[in-house]
Amino acid sequence: MAKEIVLSGIRSTGNLHLGNYYGALRNFVRMQDDYDCNFFIADLHALTTNPDPQQLHASVKQILAEYLAAGLDPEKSTIYIQSDIPEVSELYLLLNMHVGIGELMRTASFKDKARKALGIGPATEGADDEAFEHQIIGAETNKRVNAGLLTYPTLMAVDILIQKATKVPVGKDQEQHLELTRRFARRFNSFYGVDLFPEPQNYNFGAAAVKVPGLDGSGKMGKSEGNCIYLIDDPKVLRKKVMRAVTDEGPKEPNQPVSQPVANLFSLMELTSAPEVVAHYRQAYADCSIRYGDLKKQLAEDILAVTTPIRERINDILANEDYLRRVVADGAERARARAAATLAEVRQVMGIRKF
Ligand code: ADP
Ligand code: TRP
Repeated sequence: MAKEIVLSGIRSTGNLHLGNYYGALRNFVRMQDDYDCNFFIADLHALTTNPDPQQLHASVKQILAEYLAAGLDPEKSTIYIQSDIPEVSELYLLLNMHVGIGELMRTASFKDKARKALGIGPATEGADDEAFEHQIIGAETNKRVNAGLLTYPTLMAVDILIQKATKVPVGKDQEQHLELTRRFARRFNSFYGVDLFPEPQNYNFGAAAVKVPGLDGSGKMGKSEGNCIYLIDDPKVLRKKVMRAVTDEGPKEPNQPVSQPVANLFSLMELTSAPEVVAHYRQAYADCSIRYGDLKKQLAEDILAVTTPIRERINDILANEDYLRRVVADGAERARARAAATLAEVRQVMGIRKF
């Protein structure tokens, strides 16, 4: 029986951090043996925030090296760069004919990014959507919200649908994009009376979706939050970041509830440390003997045990340009074969045919 098709990608906007690793990359690695896996670098998506060309180029290569260093195996998975598949850009144009600008404007990620582009703060409860829409329409060219940002979900849907993937391992923040992908697939199928696109589901290896917290006491580790531990951080930098993590004054009485910043440290520990180590520090918290300095030292070493082997491979892989080129050339060839077949079907059903 044919294996189920798995697909996921990460934007090339910098180095990978622990959130990307536990939320996405670790799942990719674990799925390689059981599925028809396709993992790519979303460089076209990165363009939606107008990166510096040099940086974009370097980031694509860096993420490719990080994918491989973390254990993605080109013998098992198809690994490619999004822009190497021109069929994606054509299907993006075609699928946009069935996507509403209203539904795109209501997407949470669009609202966030549009606010950032316009230089206005995060949305508040009961925010006035109409005023916001006027700001978008009336924006001067120096603070515009680009159309690529609006159609980001169409492009993501195309990445998935063009490969007919059914399982998409991503973090919780991507749920809404997947919901739109399913909606676009259903709409296309029913408009043309075909059964062309399957509906993809989010997938997390084992348990529920992971959310890796930041070191600053905030909810989420993320590039734009500036609170990241990167896979490439060297031991000195990494230890320093962990030692500086926000905590509180310490428990004053036994079994006191844990504050958010300390809960974050425990969450990181749950991901990286042995169960008995976590149990030890939880007990120390409960009986007020805990010293956060000790916990942080332990946490830093346990994170390093995860990141060091990856970090050590990254530079070797980066140095081997021929190998990197071969991996993505081979990946693009495989990914294009299926993309071209899907695109041909789409053109046919939409009436774009030779006569
Ligand atoms: P960032 O939020 O740092 O810009 P991306 O948006 O490029 O990262 O995310 C790439 C992948 O990593 C997605 O599947 C996303 O869900 C996952 N991811 C990012 N940050 C986290 C986090 N803190 N916890 C869990 N998963 C995350
Ligand atoms: N939007 C995803 C993110 O920000 C990246 C992405 C682009 C993606 N296309 C995809 C993820 C297709 C899964 C499948 O992380």
